[in-house]
Amino acid sequence: MDRRMFGILLFSGLFHVAFPLHRPRYNFINESKTWLEARQHCREYHTDLAAVNDEQDLVDLGSLVDSEFSHVFIGLQRSWGWSFSDADDHKEGEPSYWNWASDEHQEAKHCGIIKRTGKWFAANCSTPKKFICYNESTTDLSERFFFYYDLVDWPSAQAYCRERHTDLARVRNQLDNEALQALPLSFRTWIGLNAESWVWSDGREPSFIPWRPQELLGVADCAALDVNSKPLGIVDKDCAEKLPFFCYTEPRKKYLVEVKLTADDSVDMTDQAVLDSILKTVTVHILTFDEFLTT
Ligand SMILES: *[C@@H]1O[C@H](CO)[C@@H](O)[C@H](O)[C@H]1NC(C)=O
Ligand SMILES: *[C@@H]1O[C@H](CO)[C@@H](O)[C@H](O)[C@H]1NC(C)=O
Ligand SMILES: *[C@@H]1O[C@H](CO)[C@@H](O)[C@H](O)[C@H]1NC(C)=O
Repeated sequence: MDRRMFGILLFSGLFHVAFPLHRPRYNFINESKTWLEARQHCREYHTDLAAVNDEQDLVDLGSLVDSEFSHVFIGLQRSWGWSFSDADDHKEGEPSYWNWASDEHQEAKHCGIIKRTGKWFAANCSTPKKFICYNESTTDLSERFFFYYDLVDWPSAQAYCRERHTDLARVRNQLDNEALQALPLSFRTWIGLNAESWVWSDGREPSFIPWRPQELLGVADCAALDVNSKPLGIVDKDCAEKLPFFCYTEPRKKYLVEVKLTADDSVDMTDQAVLDSILKTVTVHILTFDEFLTT
């Protein structure tokens, strides 16, 4: 193909305008369900339980219900993570090595212990237990973990480990877990797991959680909109409670894109090779552009 053509087929106007055409569409479901049942309903009939990204989303949700209702579930729940987490952990979402005894976490137990079997369990953060700290900068397993016999609650153990080492023990893989098992573990020993952070049910990390003012965060594991609070705010709610709920429906991703191509007279617009080349160039630019919009 004529090399010169690439020089000529320049995008003069490039992409003139582009905008997503819709905000998320919310649905209020006037049926009382537990948080899990509600999520199942939303995933079946809509996209997922509602997530909010900004103040306007909150107002949109509030406008769907009247004051006869008090609390309405949204798609926010507690999520487990390591006390020490580097940037990579956050990018990956859930860590790759996970050794829970069971998937079911009991309400109000937000800190992690390891038992002699090597399995992890959720426990009440306030109860005193032995604990294990670790040093992130050493890869030598015999020098990585430090066992303490003192009985302390989880926050105190965390503070101690952060002062003397890196943090409460973080377990990256099976080898780490085996190294912990080789320590004189008692029945229950704190490691660096906790459920202090929250995540949207579609897996996104929240950038905006408008907790209801004056509300000290309780111990429940799911969240609801307090429809009567002013300004509107979110409260933690027991996942097993039965409440009405909000779903959202994913707006179709649609962009309006205007492209202007210029070429001089030497380019034969009836030549199939030229048309193919134009199509290819435009496609590549749109893909790049889409990537730009979604990052
Ligand atoms: C919600 O459901 C209840 C009982 O099923 C009904 O009495 C009430 O009118 C409904 N409210 C709305 C706003 O749809
Ligand atoms: C956790 O333990 C503390 C102290 O032992 C106790 O006061 C508190 O009620 C417990 N919390 C729950 C939710 O069981
Ligand atoms: C952590 O390990 C590194 C590398 O072995 C060592 O230089 C450092 O002193 C250790 N830090 C602590 C607090 O033990």
